[in-house]
Amino acid sequence: MKLSKEMEELYEKAYEGYLNSYSPYSKFKVGAAILLKNGQYIIGTNVENASYGLSNCAERSALFQAYSLGYRKFDILKIMIIGNTEQPVSPCGACRQVISELMRPECDVILTNLYKDIKILKVKELLPYSFNEDNLHE
Ligand code: THU
Repeated sequence: MKLSKEMEELYEKAYEGYLNSYSPYSKFKVGAAILLKNGQYIIGTNVENASYGLSNCAERSALFQAYSLGYRKFDILKIMIIGNTEQPVSPCGACRQVISELMRPECDVILTNLYKDIKILKVKELLPYSFNEDNLHE
């Protein structure tokens, strides 16, 4: 699929994350890239572990890196996630929870694959009726 210039740039960063995947157990590479308001990109990849449950997904790696650098949800414009899937890759439940907390509800989550098929969802569409900080104060 032909992408706009902005999408193509984001795709290249997400694909860089995909290539960096450390996934010796599942052999399933995933990449992610965040576009910040200041124009910078932050790349993430999935990092697995012999203790499988300790593995970290690509989108969470990217978001944790953004927060580690001091950025917060108002600094983040969008995230793209890429996997070698027939349809645009679908983020797991844990990542939907983390994305819902660390990105604003109106931000785009762009799902793609190696064919550059694109599916765009808003953060708020990823996890309806989510558990969030408001619940902790009830
Ligand atoms: N994975 C991601 O990184 N993101 C997703 O959205 C789906 C799954 C990773 C976790 C694990 O390293 C591998 O893909 C197989 O589940």
